[in-house]
Amino acid sequence: MARGEVRILEPGLAELVGEGLAAGRLEFAVGSAAAVAEAEVVFLCVPTPMGSGGAADLAAVESVVAEVGELLPAGCVLVCKSTVPVGTSARVAELVGRADVAVVSNPEFLREGSAVHDFLNPDRIVVGSDSQDAAERVAALYARLGAPTVLTDAASAEMVKYAANCFLATKLSYVNAVAELCERLGADIADVTEGMGFDRRIGQSFLQPGPGWGGSCLPKDTAALMRVAESVEFEFGLLRETIAANARQRERMVDKVAEACGVGAGASLRGVRLGLLGLTFKAGTDDLRDSPAMAVAGLLAARGAELVAYDPGLRGDEPGVAELVTLVDDPYQAAKGAAGLVVLTEWQEFRTVDWTRVAGLLEGPVVVDTRNHLDPDVLRRAGLSWRGVGRTP
Ligand code: UGA
Repeated sequence: MARGEVRILEPGLAELVGEGLAAGRLEFAVGSAAAVAEAEVVFLCVPTPMGSGGAADLAAVESVVAEVGELLPAGCVLVCKSTVPVGTSARVAELVGRADVAVVSNPEFLREGSAVHDFLNPDRIVVGSDSQDAAERVAALYARLGAPTVLTDAASAEMVKYAANCFLATKLSYVNAVAELCERLGADIADVTEGMGFDRRIGQSFLQPGPGWGGSCLPKDTAALMRVAESVEFEFGLLRETIAANARQRERMVDKVAEACGVGAGASLRGVRLGLLGLTFKAGTDDLRDSPAMAVAGLLAARGAELVAYDPGLRGDEPGVAELVTLVDDPYQAAKGAAGLVVLTEWQEFRTVDWTRVAGLLEGPVVVDTRNHLDPDVLRRAGLSWRGVGRTP
């Protein structure tokens, strides 16, 4: 990082880091003492992964606070950017235990794969603190981005983050359920979501059905909010069903693949070779954490299928991949001799595949498109049968 090398796939990040280093606006320090010395604002951006029983694991937050608490310059503001349960900023303030250091909650809403764009073009800035002055100082840092700013207390700011992510997860589980209904009733989910999305109260985005939602955020945050709800004896049935429906969606994709290959839902896939397109949790990232594609691959493998996969974002040395699939360098190798091809991630380049060539390589001429990403007419013209989600072929 200090040399400007960025080892994650995040468009625009390497350029941003490079510019910052060249202009002397960014430097990397070894050790937290050097990092916080003379700082007016210190951002706490450590991970809060899923811990035991689904609760957010705050070990990294606590250890960094213990480390820097006494080192913070007098009058500085400590900003909690990590996704943390309601009450954590108050707990951080207690742990720091200094009247001359204010704690502010300032959740982030960046999506992986468009984090730089989202940071520079935020829908909103949320800043929460019991210190009005500290909240205003943090809000001022974002003023030139011109986004609506919500100034609130720390607990409400923390809640905004969970409420937003859990709402997005609920929106997706709802769409995936409506897609299943569309399949059974002969309606087309693409037209249905388009028709829904023109209602400004609903909006067009986050309405794409798929193999279930995943990644390092929605699964962990839905689980964490469930735990928070339990801790105050609130039965959050709606969120519980959102999570359960997501698990069923993955199973449903496996049944869809089995049926497309003529095996029948629930039956064994022993000895069936399948080509997979995409393994990351969504296109444009190299992140496999809680990836629905990996989960579907795991379920297919558990039924005995032999899997050959291609993903433009992977190098091949990622943990857990080689145990599950044979990773190849292009879609054609994935298709060769397979009983069907399964699209699990919506990488743009899958749209430019030579489908006639794929048809010649596949043993069974079927493509299961769990993202409704491909043009069914293009596949049909290539002699392939297309199965999507919530749309009749
Ligand atoms: C999510 C939120 O969208 C961000 O606002 C938030 O800041 C971030 O979590 C976080 O808490 O840090 P991210 O995990 O990068 O961002 O991914 P999303 O773009 O939200 O996608 C999540 C999952 O939903 C993926 O598996 C994706 O494929 C799926 N998805 C998304 C759909 O199946 N359909 C859609 O229409 C949109």
